[in-house]
Amino acid sequence: MTADTRWDHLLLEAGLATLADNGTPYGAIADGALGIKAGRIVFVGARADLPGDPHALAHRVESLHGTWITPGLVDCHTHLVFGGDRAQEFEMRLEGATYEDIARAGGGIVSSVRATRSASEDELFAQSLPRAQALLADGVTTLEIKSGYGLEPEAERRMLRVARRIGVALGIDVRTSFLGMHALPPEYAGRRDEYVALVCDTMLPSLADESLVDAVDAFCEGIGFSHAETERLFKKASELGLPVKLHAEQLSDLGGAALVARYNGLSADHLEWTSEEGIQAMAAAGTVAVLLPGAYYALRDTRPPPIAGFRDHGVAMAVATDLNPGTSPLLSLRLAMGMACTLFRLTPEEALRGATLHAAKALGLDDRGTLAVGQRADLAVWNVRHLPELCYWIGGGLLRETWVAGERLAT
Ligand code: NIG
Ligand code: FE
Repeated sequence: MTADTRWDHLLLEAGLATLADNGTPYGAIADGALGIKAGRIVFVGARADLPGDPHALAHRVESLHGTWITPGLVDCHTHLVFGGDRAQEFEMRLEGATYEDIARAGGGIVSSVRATRSASEDELFAQSLPRAQALLADGVTTLEIKSGYGLEPEAERRMLRVARRIGVALGIDVRTSFLGMHALPPEYAGRRDEYVALVCDTMLPSLADESLVDAVDAFCEGIGFSHAETERLFKKASELGLPVKLHAEQLSDLGGAALVARYNGLSADHLEWTSEEGIQAMAAAGTVAVLLPGAYYALRDTRPPPIAGFRDHGVAMAVATDLNPGTSPLLSLRLAMGMACTLFRLTPEEALRGATLHAAKALGLDDRGTLAVGQRADLAVWNVRHLPELCYWIGGGLLRETWVAGERLAT
């Protein structure tokens, strides 16, 4: 008996935004054909270049008439597991309080910590799952979720377990980042060193041991953790063989981008205050710049990240939602892409690369983010005539369907 060489699926009559460097914007192929076998892409090209009759090539042939197929979107920075909400702080900010005022007065991250600690694992899962579903409903097929609202061993573990459960429940890859150094928990006031030691020497090794940690993150900021404290964490992560990333230069410049680059970090995120030196360090290390226009928007920030500098130095720019209860209650990565265009002046093509290829890179994944032979067949199929529409429409349901590892995702 000969092996079955037919493809599992052949998708026809759609445009393909391959994002390959083939000399056309978006690496676009107008009347495209995409073959899938065993979860991988096995053919990408013009329909006219198919090596035979579609039905002889594949078991199932489908027309996606009038759509565009892009790589599935990758949201590489979210804090979507948390208890409660912070709508009240939104109202306070509208009345003039700043994010830092609220944090220093015992609100902010710490108020989500209280709500998260008091939720059981099942409650946390039930509250968080709909947020992940909202992201999927707008094209996401790979998702990063951080801890950082537990800030004690059991509650951090619960958050990371919930993140893993969300991936299983939705049938997508969830990558976890340990963010034990997100804020100083109130019970450690005046004992910073003890908390940093707990994170570095107890929490991180034991959570890593349970395979709950794919990467290590911290909030390097005046209201977060210092350069030296962050470096202590990165040393420990390196010893454990875990990649690092960093919330850097959101509100001030503590040199976080250069620090994370020095540890060959996957990404530096936010970056409104990043210096030329930080940009150069990121370029040399291949550290991705993760842009978070949702937080910029919600905080009514006025200082955009140095986009021209990133472009000039060839730093890959990703775009993510930063979905969190305080600074970015943003439930659509596609909307984050639109904001990156309007607020940061990315081109729609840069925004799409930022939410696919470069976001995958920011998670250390090179098996997704483009439409190319050998890549995972993670696809988003959009009811649009022109690709810039993905960034142009503000809200609305443009998504027709997604595919994850070669299977249409049940919605
Ligand atoms: O990425 N900046 C720190 N962390 C989050 C905010 C978290 C919160 O306010 O709950 C951010 O913006
Ligand atoms: Fe964040």
